[in-house]
Amino acid sequence: MTDTGSADKVIINEVGPRDGLQSQDVELGLEQRFQFVEALLGAGLEHIEMGSFVSPRAVPQMAGTGDLARRLGQRAGTQLSALVPNMKGYELACEAGVDTVAVVVSATETMNQKNINLSMDETMQVAQAVIERGSAEGVRVQAYLAVAFECPFEGLVDSGYVRALAAQLMEYGASELVIADTIGAANPGQVKHLMTALADEHGAARLACHFHDTRALGLANVYAALESGIRRFDSSVGGLGGCPFAPGAKGNVATEDVVMLCEQLGYTTGVDMPALLNVVDLISDMLGRPQGGRAHYWLSRNAA
Ligand code: COA
Ligand code: ZN
Repeated sequence: MTDTGSADKVIINEVGPRDGLQSQDVELGLEQRFQFVEALLGAGLEHIEMGSFVSPRAVPQMAGTGDLARRLGQRAGTQLSALVPNMKGYELACEAGVDTVAVVVSATETMNQKNINLSMDETMQVAQAVIERGSAEGVRVQAYLAVAFECPFEGLVDSGYVRALAAQLMEYGASELVIADTIGAANPGQVKHLMTALADEHGAARLACHFHDTRALGLANVYAALESGIRRFDSSVGGLGGCPFAPGAKGNVATEDVVMLCEQLGYTTGVDMPALLNVVDLISDMLGRPQGGRAHYWLSRNAA
């Protein structure tokens, strides 16, 4: 497993097959989802969130993730993870051979209710139970703090409160804490302030950021987090993405944009840009709509 051993390496966790597909009106079949993940692996992505074990009634696009996980198997040197909203999801993921899962706590009461139908207290209890069981069973559990800057229902979120939740999740034993700007409302000043404080409190190696590019601030926020010492980022190829339960959420920051930024700043990502751009074409064909990040035109002309 690759890790943040070198300060010059940025780890990209590709979330297109989960965050990217969960809000599309086109539902891809198992074969297409499999081809998509295979293509991402072929482009050098070593960390991929390949789906979620959630209610197929809540998110029909993610039905069949167990079959997908079984078909993909585990690959040496790669981390194929899945999101789980509760213990049932954790158990289904383990049955399918998944060894890295992500639990999500939203930083506001209303967002937890809308997302997983639980209160904040109940959500924290679920997170604790999944993290502790994962630790006992050798399953890595990443904890996400969603709407960590602003909530579509409750507005601005107090950073002191986010830090308190973060401390709790770290204490439970989360392998990583991912700070998520679910609706793309954060600005680089807020990101730098929060991520610097969290890096001081917990060390940057266990932290990651997840940005959405709703306001064209996605890459600026990645840069602010890099400046705070963060070296792990979620992104979606082609800028796919959005949360079906968070109105106004646009796509994730695009993987090709993040790779471009990091490599121009002298970091390595291990991602093969021409192959990644081919994945953008592949997923555009599958979804029947052109996809692509902010730099797509420039990259397509220059990265051949
Ligand atoms: N995977 C599959 N099915 C699940 C499940 C899981 N992780 N957890 C619960 N279910 C099933 C239950 O078995 C039950 O099925 P039944 O009606 O056939 O008996 C049904 O879902 C309802 O279960 P319940 O525990 O009452 O859950 P709920 O209706 O309160 O819904 C969630 C809770 C978490 C299952 C649902 O809100 C969900 O899947 N949300 C997805 C959130 C998401 O993906 N957000 C985007 C990423 S952050
Ligand atoms: Zn997201």
